[in-house]
Amino acid sequence: MKFQIVAAAVAIGAAIGAAGSQPVYLDTTKPLEERVEDALGRMTTEEKAAIIHAQSKFSSAGVPRLGIPELWCTDGPHGIRPDVFWDEWDQAGCTNDSCTAFPALTCLAATWNPEMSALYGRSIGEEARYREKDVLLGPGVNIYRTPLNGRNFEYMGEDPYLASVMVVPYIKGVQSNGVATCVKHYALNNQEYRRHTTDVDLSDRALYEIYLPAFKAAVQDGGTWSIMGSYNLYQGRHVCQNPRLLKDILRDEWGFDGVVISDWGGVHDTDQVISGGLDLEFGSWTNGLSEGMKNAYDSYFMAYPYLKRISDGVVDTQELDRKAANVLRLIFRTAMNQAKPSGSMNSPEHVAAARRIAGEGIVLLKNSGNILPLDLDGKKKIAVIGENAIKMMTVGGGSSSLKARREVSPLDGIKARAGKDAEVVYARGYTGDPVAQQDGMKVQDISDSRDADALIAEAVAVARDADYVIYVGGLNKAPHQDCEDADREGLGLPYGQDRLISALADANKNLIVVNVSGNAVAMPWLDKAAAVVQAWFIGSEAGNAIADIVSGDVNPSGKLPFTFPARLEDSGAHAEGEYPGNKEQLAASKQWGDTIKEYYNEDIFVGYRWADKKKTTPLFPFGHGLSYTTFEYGKPTADKKAMTADDTITFSVNVKNTGDREGQEIVQLYIADKKSSLPRPVKELKGFKKVKLAPGEEQTVSITVDKSALSFFDDRQHAWVAEPGKFEAIIGASSRDIKGVVKFELK
Ligand code: GLC
Repeated sequence: MKFQIVAAAVAIGAAIGAAGSQPVYLDTTKPLEERVEDALGRMTTEEKAAIIHAQSKFSSAGVPRLGIPELWCTDGPHGIRPDVFWDEWDQAGCTNDSCTAFPALTCLAATWNPEMSALYGRSIGEEARYREKDVLLGPGVNIYRTPLNGRNFEYMGEDPYLASVMVVPYIKGVQSNGVATCVKHYALNNQEYRRHTTDVDLSDRALYEIYLPAFKAAVQDGGTWSIMGSYNLYQGRHVCQNPRLLKDILRDEWGFDGVVISDWGGVHDTDQVISGGLDLEFGSWTNGLSEGMKNAYDSYFMAYPYLKRISDGVVDTQELDRKAANVLRLIFRTAMNQAKPSGSMNSPEHVAAARRIAGEGIVLLKNSGNILPLDLDGKKKIAVIGENAIKMMTVGGGSSSLKARREVSPLDGIKARAGKDAEVVYARGYTGDPVAQQDGMKVQDISDSRDADALIAEAVAVARDADYVIYVGGLNKAPHQDCEDADREGLGLPYGQDRLISALADANKNLIVVNVSGNAVAMPWLDKAAAVVQAWFIGSEAGNAIADIVSGDVNPSGKLPFTFPARLEDSGAHAEGEYPGNKEQLAASKQWGDTIKEYYNEDIFVGYRWADKKKTTPLFPFGHGLSYTTFEYGKPTADKKAMTADDTITFSVNVKNTGDREGQEIVQLYIADKKSSLPRPVKELKGFKKVKLAPGEEQTVSITVDKSALSFFDDRQHAWVAEPGKFEAIIGASSRDIKGVVKFELK
């Protein structure tokens, strides 16, 4: 007995001793800032410099001597990128890194459902965690300023309020796994054309009202642990070394306590980056070293050149300590977070989430004669036409490209859903750019040497005697077709698709066009198509989600997160905005590396804000989306006629499902300021709610707002102001389908 008591006493003593000697930075019971300060105090200048720049393509160093782990980043916003070689872009050819490919973020935005965003973030965060990644390089929230931007498919549309609401649950979902989001590309990276050298300038009103809100929400509401500096310049300085954006706004105005990570190759100068507010440098091709040089990492702008300025006494270590502290905080939140769950990969739950989000984001644009949903169970002949019915869409598009564990093609999805009495036939119809490889890995080979005439003739023959024709086309993430580093060159569909679609419509009036894209496209054949479905790039479950909608298993409930302009000139960026850059400078430019200014002259009038100002008629307006049922709105009301600045006001409207099947409706609230001291849009989205209604069910939908919904950014005072006066609350089923208006006042 005596021995046991002694042994117990020794054990307790040791435990107390250990606890006492446990360094603060390792003691997870201590406050985060204490741990950061303690670790910083133990590090040498060289160790501090080592953790603020890359050591490989996607990792940065830890402090091995102190047991502080390195940080591992991974693309991308739609799924976890396969591992690449230490110092290459090429895939390492692992066999354990295929993933679930979730829908592109434009589809997520089109759900207008924050619950889908939470599901998405949690799911993709579990995959990042399982793959032992600490930082997910996404989501992207750059505003859709032009329908030609190659990366719009990675972002959340044209409206700052919609993007601000939809980005937050995604961030929280990812970070609940102990994985940081890295919200990108902060800021003003609204095109891919000359993305490293375009020098953006614009009014502070446009900056604060249009281009910053989603990033501000990501920081203040989402609590993102990191943010990615963009490639472009702003007011003459590369964003990754731009104190106005990275310090004045991000830190001083918003209180950001995370890490600013450069885009890969976004840093260009040691002196500017030391004082510019960046914390972690990735992807630099420095001092003329070409990418892939083994010793490149020591030559990074924040590596030896920085250490040399310190040892020469040119700069002190104050900025170094600030950067290293931010990176340590990120390491403690992620790599050293012992409370994080273990994650999961390619689970049935993730596959189901991908399918559900896709089904909620697909937008039914047109459905004349209610031709949709199709009876896929009956004795029908279904002709599926188009390359996008068989082409892998999870590959390509740039850094968001994935190695999906599986991808159900639209053709396979429709075949799987069709009943045993149905006959599904296929014809190619057209051929696009072959995507032979991605990151050094071979992809599907769907080469077809036949010419357009032969392909169209075959497709028309197949379509002629079918009961229904489902055309699956659009863009395909090849360069210039919704792809990083290459904007589109026009609004029209590529590869002669317009001619094909028109020929199919002439052959069979029961034509359903499924457009796979992340951008608006021109539709000269629209009047001849019975139905049009905007199906986005929707990942692993693409075919099943499209079949769910076409068959009616899922009632479409998505709405457009951006305007489909009838013409490019109906977009402010093209009519007034200098896209893709100052004409004179572009004409005079002799080399790709020339800096080209671009002033956003259209200012705050982006998307529907421009359409309302110019009274143009879009092909399809922002917020548009049909359902297989119908909804009736009552007269909207307000709980008061006048509100004060510290008050709220609630708008209510009855919505009834007047059809014969359950459906979801997105009720939109726009606010119109009837008189303001500065120009304002006709109306602006300031609230929305998605409600599910059974047939015949009626619900009162209420949306409460405060003065922030009435405010505009007054760049004369550098402040948000809500000016007393008359306002209108506009309730719509889209930005053009207005159901009612309530007048009210701000006292
Ligand atoms: C790319 C992209 C960025 C990506 C990074 C790493 O150039 O701009 O979104 O996360 O580099 O691949």
